[in-house]
Amino acid sequence: MGNNEVLRVKNLSKFYGSRRAVEGLNFSIRAGEIFGFLGANGAGKSTTMKMITGLAKQSGGEVFIEGKRLSKNHKECTEKIGSMIETPRFYPYLTGYQNLKFFGSLNQKVTKGQILDIAELVGLKARIHDKVKTYSLGMKQRLGIAQALLHNPKLLVLDEPTNGLDANGIREIKMFLQRVAKERGVAIMISSHILSIMESLCDTICIIENGKISEIRTLDEIKKACNKHGSHYIKTDKPNYAGMLIEERFNKKVGVTKTKVLFDTNTKELAEIIVYLTECKIPIFGAGEVDYSLEEAYLEIVGTNSEIK
Ligand SMILES: Nc1ncnc2c1ncn2[C@@H]1O[C@H](COP(=O)(O)OP(=O)(O)O)[C@@H](O)[C@H]1O
Ligand SMILES: [Mg+2]
Repeated sequence: MGNNEVLRVKNLSKFYGSRRAVEGLNFSIRAGEIFGFLGANGAGKSTTMKMITGLAKQSGGEVFIEGKRLSKNHKECTEKIGSMIETPRFYPYLTGYQNLKFFGSLNQKVTKGQILDIAELVGLKARIHDKVKTYSLGMKQRLGIAQALLHNPKLLVLDEPTNGLDANGIREIKMFLQRVAKERGVAIMISSHILSIMESLCDTICIIENGKISEIRTLDEIKKACNKHGSHYIKTDKPNYAGMLIEERFNKKVGVTKTKVLFDTNTKELAEIIVYLTECKIPIFGAGEVDYSLEEAYLEIVGTNSEIK
């Protein structure tokens, strides 16, 4: 356990009656780490986040914030957490500034300077003195994140913060979350069903299925684990024939898809294989190292039948 560990979850479980929502969850998040929580609807993401932020009681297990047990040190722990779970609610007839001042002052004093700094960080400075009822959904999401950040939390927990945002809004949120993590050293736990967002944002990906963690690794590790059929590929319109030639001549096991032959090799041998296939009059449209997107990796892990959303 590193001493920059902000959150540790040990054997965490939640049952509603006899129905399991989540069970036996174990993971930790370091300062500055962006931890992506990925799973289908009903997998248990929100339930887990509610227990971590102290909004829901755990049925079993423990949550530690900077080494302190949440259940025994509720106030001390929750003060170190900023969160946005479900859509944030604000007073529509107050301005963004007034809302931040009101919600910020519930716990402790916030200064004008702090509010304006946070507004700038989330890209709301120009509109912070407008009434919230004039805000777009994306602006409300940003105000929600601003509120979560007001007290300089060590841990930021965001449940689907990109819901309802357009591509531009998503890109901006991604950029400032990266700044928050890297410049301020905040540990960020974020759930989203949009794989491409998680892929470019997160350091670690945790996949939850039916209340249990099925995979928790760095993005690179997840992709590597998916290279089951080989490290390299050759793209051709004759993958079966090409695959057979490679098996015979180079004594390798290959995997074949509709457009590709996949096999384990290195760059030097790949070049020899390309020369050989070309001599055999196999048209080659592309070749290289296999690099899965998170979406492909996710489908390999979870299976194509389970839908993500
Ligand atoms: N208040 C509740 N009462 C009973 N069951 C619940 C309650 N909240 C969530 N659940 C159930 O717990 C499981 C996990 O839900 P949730 O954490 O909301 O999943 P996710 O956020 O991944 O979509 C689901 O089966 C859901 O129906
Ligand atoms: Mg949810």
